[in-house]
Amino acid sequence: MKQITHIFEDAEQTAYAVAKYILVRSNEKKNISEPLNIAVSGGSTPKQLFHLLASDEFSKAVSWESLRIFWVDERCVPPTDKESNYGMTYDALLRFPFVNSDNIFRMKGENQPDEEAIRYAELLAAELPVRHHFPVFDLILLGIGDDGHTASIFPNSMDLLHSDKSVAVGIHPISGQKRITLTGKTINNAEEVIFLVNGANKLKITHHILHQTPASKNYPASFVGNSKGEAVFYLDKAAVGDDKV
Ligand code: 6PG
Repeated sequence: MKQITHIFEDAEQTAYAVAKYILVRSNEKKNISEPLNIAVSGGSTPKQLFHLLASDEFSKAVSWESLRIFWVDERCVPPTDKESNYGMTYDALLRFPFVNSDNIFRMKGENQPDEEAIRYAELLAAELPVRHHFPVFDLILLGIGDDGHTASIFPNSMDLLHSDKSVAVGIHPISGQKRITLTGKTINNAEEVIFLVNGANKLKITHHILHQTPASKNYPASFVGNSKGEAVFYLDKAAVGDDKV
């Protein structure tokens, strides 16, 4: 995987750079009358990004009519649950009137997991371009867990990297919580894949992945990138430390 890194002073500047990129891409797509189909991750890191997108600076400049939001993964809980990735995104961004609710395609964590994986796969096939039998996102935003997982593909479920399904059911290895997740072949079919990684707690895992150490072969995040085999990393200095990357 070819890795391209952009390093910023702190988490706020890292999130700002990603927000700016989404803004630019949404306007570029608007100018050619095309949608910008993005899939967003959950967890804590993207919150800052979503709050930025909801700020006056971005909410007044993003082409919301072009921006279509899908999910990378979702915990199998109702959208009102504190664990819900959709719920977190709704509270930070989607609740505002400038967001076009017709352009929001949430994974339904409240549904039976296997049925929801099928439903969402069918939705992606209907709403997105398809290439090599998998849906094509313009941009997929990923995080990395400190165990090297990404999406809800965990080190003990690396088979999801190669699944012939576009959406599958993952299981958190510690909590046992079921998750709906895009699979590796869907992620690797995207035009662009951006990892947003902040914080000193990610220093160790970031080192392994960016230096492609032998241990990195155990981490799903090492194996995802766009259809050209490129993974772009937006990181703050805390996540990189003194590493020369
Ligand atoms: C999720 C995410 C997951 C996340 C990583 C990093 O549902 O939790 O999609 O893949 O990106 O766990 O999470 P943090 O941003 O909280 O470190």
